Amino acid sequence: MAELIWKGKHAKEQESFINSTLASQHLCTYESFEGESFDGQPTVMPSNSTPAPTQRWYNRLILGDKSVILPLLLPEFAGQVNLIYIDPPFMTGRTFKNDQQLIYSDKWGNDLDTYLQWLYETFILLKLLLSSNGSLYVHLDWRVTHYARVILDEVFGSNSNAGGPGFKNEIIWHYHSGGRSQKRYASKHDTILFYSKSSQYCFHGERIGELRGTQKRNHMKKWVDTDGHTHWTIHSAGRLYSYGENTHMTPTDVWSDISHLHQKDPQRNGYATQKPAALLERVILASSEENDLVLDCFCGSGVTPAVAEQLGRRWIACDQSELALKLTHERILTSDRVHPFVIQRLEKDAK
Ligand SMILES: C[S@@+](CC[C@H](N)C(=O)[O-])C[C@H]1O[C@@H](n2cnc3c(N)ncnc32)[C@H](O)[C@@H]1O
Repeated sequence: MAELIWKGKHAKEQESFINSTLASQHLCTYESFEGESFDGQPTVMPSNSTPAPTQRWYNRLILGDKSVILPLLLPEFAGQVNLIYIDPPFMTGRTFKNDQQLIYSDKWGNDLDTYLQWLYETFILLKLLLSSNGSLYVHLDWRVTHYARVILDEVFGSNSNAGGPGFKNEIIWHYHSGGRSQKRYASKHDTILFYSKSSQYCFHGERIGELRGTQKRNHMKKWVDTDGHTHWTIHSAGRLYSYGENTHMTPTDVWSDISHLHQKDPQRNGYATQKPAALLERVILASSEENDLVLDCFCGSGVTPAVAEQLGRRWIACDQSELALKLTHERILTSDRVHPFVIQRLEKDAK
């Protein structure tokens, strides 16, 4: 199998970034919503404390660097997360600001090795958090998707068919944002890499697909039964396939029906790299069940936890940006349905 190598890849033992005790920090709960035991004082909830079975579930919004937070989540959540969507920095070479205030830098000292190591460590930690039937979606663009795919194949496995663990799809999200290069084709898509931890994974194409309907689409033959219902049939490889008009077609791996967010889109909450809720709806509906646990460690504007909340999934969201935390917090509170959640930050362990 091909392996991507960069300077420093094998310099660090995996244990050094997996072992949370090295971090000398813990998660501290600062605010709790619909909480029962919160008395106004920050309550320390050590991340290695396993909640009692009767304890109520609290969704979690966490401020901090994923390199510290993900290892801290491991004692409680290893093998427990059903779905992970991440939209990490794309190595754009830019800084992202809001009113002159830095939100995050995506420069990496122009050093691809540093970025790849960071991504690799992220994938390893996320795999440990995923449940055995869990799925990972990684949202990137043309700059680093090709590297990420080789690394993900190494960490999760690669298959030419959907039957095994690892690679499932390279989804193209095609949009029509402004600006066209005069020197090359205009780049108008992002890539979302979809991987599963094992061959058993949740996937509901029928929840997100279009109805087949009565309109002719391809080479299928149409017939109408005595009740007036349309059916579509096709012979392929010696088999006859027949579908009713009310069945859903699994969407293809090219998503061109979800618009990027226009400047005046009411969904916008002031975060530069905000993604549309429809994108997350598709991912969450297809790859999780109600009450499943969804994680996004680069939550930005809060789109993943907000959609997870709406769809009745439990969630853990984190980001290193104060603005991301504030906007996500506000967004969750304006949701139609808000389940109990806590806001947590990192705190140094007492000496
Ligand atoms: C592309 S944005 C995510 C946008 C988000 N999906 C949305 O729709 O708003 C990337 C996010 O990663 C966060 N980030 C960058 N490095 C991080 C790190 N080491 N740990 C946690 N968050 C980080 C940034 O603050 C930023 O919010």
